[in-house]
Amino acid sequence: MSKPNIIITIDGPAGSGKSTVTKRLAERLGLDCLDTGAMYRVVAWVLRKQNQEDLSGEALTLLIKGLDFTIEGNGPAQKVWIEGKDISQEIRTPEISRLASAMSMKAEVRSVLAEKQRALGKQGGLIAEGRDMGTVIFPRADYKFFLDASLDVRAKRRYKELIQRGQTLSLGEVRQEMEARDRQDQERTLAPLRPAADALVIDTSDFSIEEVVQLICSRIFHGTNASFGDLLPA
Ligand code: DC
Repeated sequence: MSKPNIIITIDGPAGSGKSTVTKRLAERLGLDCLDTGAMYRVVAWVLRKQNQEDLSGEALTLLIKGLDFTIEGNGPAQKVWIEGKDISQEIRTPEISRLASAMSMKAEVRSVLAEKQRALGKQGGLIAEGRDMGTVIFPRADYKFFLDASLDVRAKRRYKELIQRGQTLSLGEVRQEMEARDRQDQERTLAPLRPAADALVIDTSDFSIEEVVQLICSRIFHGTNASFGDLLPA
């Protein structure tokens, strides 16, 4: 089946359920997914590895342009490779979360990644998840959603996830880190984290993943009996 030429954006803070919802929705609707947070994490991982966190200007632009990385899927089973090395787990540490947020404030980083993201969206058939998908990268997206949840709920979700990955942080530490990262992502000058004016904001605190997916599907299909096939080009 060919993919409908549409773009759905899902933005929101850490722990809002973006990745899992994106993954499930993409499976259900037969669309590809684009995890832009993972792209910022790859850049942070590389700069950390090369001890180049202070790099700026043309040198930084060239370094990011030259990166050869692949991101496959979303959620816990996501695979991320750089030059053949599997870094799926290494980009998910609290250190890389912090650094990805710091590096995402740099214009050079945003500009190269924005170009890659728009190129990936050219063919449509995509659910793009991140912080600025509906506001900056795909302002004309067909459907825009912004997922949010209380800090306590989000911290608990992320804590569970980190424990499952074998990391040892307390819930308090996770909550504190998350609060600091939210603030940094919301207060930065370039493409700050905020809902697009035409996005549907969903508070996922009391919803299961399935309920959020259902809500998004009902918005897309306007409560009609239409199926996703009806969105396909004639
Ligand atoms: O979604 P995530 O937690 O994997 O994202 C990691 C960081 O990357 C996040 O704290 C801010 C940055 N980011 C961004 O600035 N813009 C995006 N579209 C996605 C992520």
